[in-house]
Amino acid sequence: MHNKTVLTGVKPTGTPHIGNLVGAIKPAIELGHQVINAGGRHFMFIADYHAINAEKDPNVLNQKLKEIACVYLAFGLDPNRSVFYRQSDIPEIPEITTILFAYTPKGFMNKAHAYKAAVDKNKALGKPDDDLINMGLYTYPTLMAADILAYDSDIVPVGKDQVQHVEIARDIAGMINAHYGKALLKLPEYSLAKDAAVLPGVDGRKMSKSYNNVIPIFADKAEIKKAVFSIKTDSRPMEEPKDPDEILVYQIYQAIAPIDKVQEMAEGLRQGKLGYGHIKNMLLDAVLDATLNAKEKYDYYMAHFTEVEEMLALGAQKARPLAQNTLKRLKDAVFGR
Ligand code: TRP
Repeated sequence: MHNKTVLTGVKPTGTPHIGNLVGAIKPAIELGHQVINAGGRHFMFIADYHAINAEKDPNVLNQKLKEIACVYLAFGLDPNRSVFYRQSDIPEIPEITTILFAYTPKGFMNKAHAYKAAVDKNKALGKPDDDLINMGLYTYPTLMAADILAYDSDIVPVGKDQVQHVEIARDIAGMINAHYGKALLKLPEYSLAKDAAVLPGVDGRKMSKSYNNVIPIFADKAEIKKAVFSIKTDSRPMEEPKDPDEILVYQIYQAIAPIDKVQEMAEGLRQGKLGYGHIKNMLLDAVLDATLNAKEKYDYYMAHFTEVEEMLALGAQKARPLAQNTLKRLKDAVFGR
């Protein structure tokens, strides 16, 4: 991480659940701390241009943007150390995108998985291939390449689904560099989260809003309790010794509780000393412990969003000169200035 620039982009997807927390939010914030402590730079931005491809209601979009910004701040992102900004505050990004377009083979976009998934969905519904697919979705990876290349990013931490997009950014940069015979753009690398553990939801499938099986982070206690107590169990009696790894409540507990408490639950299950009611209460406490502190901060930032606006403006101020620099290098090269 020494002297490296690490860049993370997040889409404003709305109120997060504990799957997002343990799978994305916490790891991204911790990585940011590590990078900065090692003398590197950490960029973290909200991909609001990417979001408008799917969300056309400005009120909804604005609300989601606020929520995601406040969530990251609530869980410890430090805007004085990380460069924390909004994509749409950097006008150089769409300018860089336009230049990249001229070097982006259309075939790359045809193969990009977000577009392919949308086409497959249309096919399955018997609709025309490109039904309701806009150019923003189609060219999504080129905008993402601009996000990455603008700041000379070395490393882009991503989930599996975004690896292809980082590879496209790298390929585009490589083609431009080859064309001009010099290193105009830094070639980025992706890094896959080590244990990109997928947290199961209350029904045992991957925790996801689209499955309606999530445990929310910032809901009130009654709502969190309802979710926790709806986690699937079986009818075995408490006394029957159980393998903790087979038990959904335990699998979720493992991801958020301190190690000694996790061991306590495992032992209790193996020895038939803890029933499903007990372990659900333990999980409820763990969820509340892991989020209570953050919830207070989250509520504060949501209620004082002008403070957050200032942080984002400061971030944009720090990010822009780098993007301006990259844009100038590109313009000088492509226009022969
Ligand atoms: N495509 C990413 C996602 O869906 C968000 C994103 C946009 C991004 N631009 C980026 C991620 C640049 C990393 C780097 O999650």
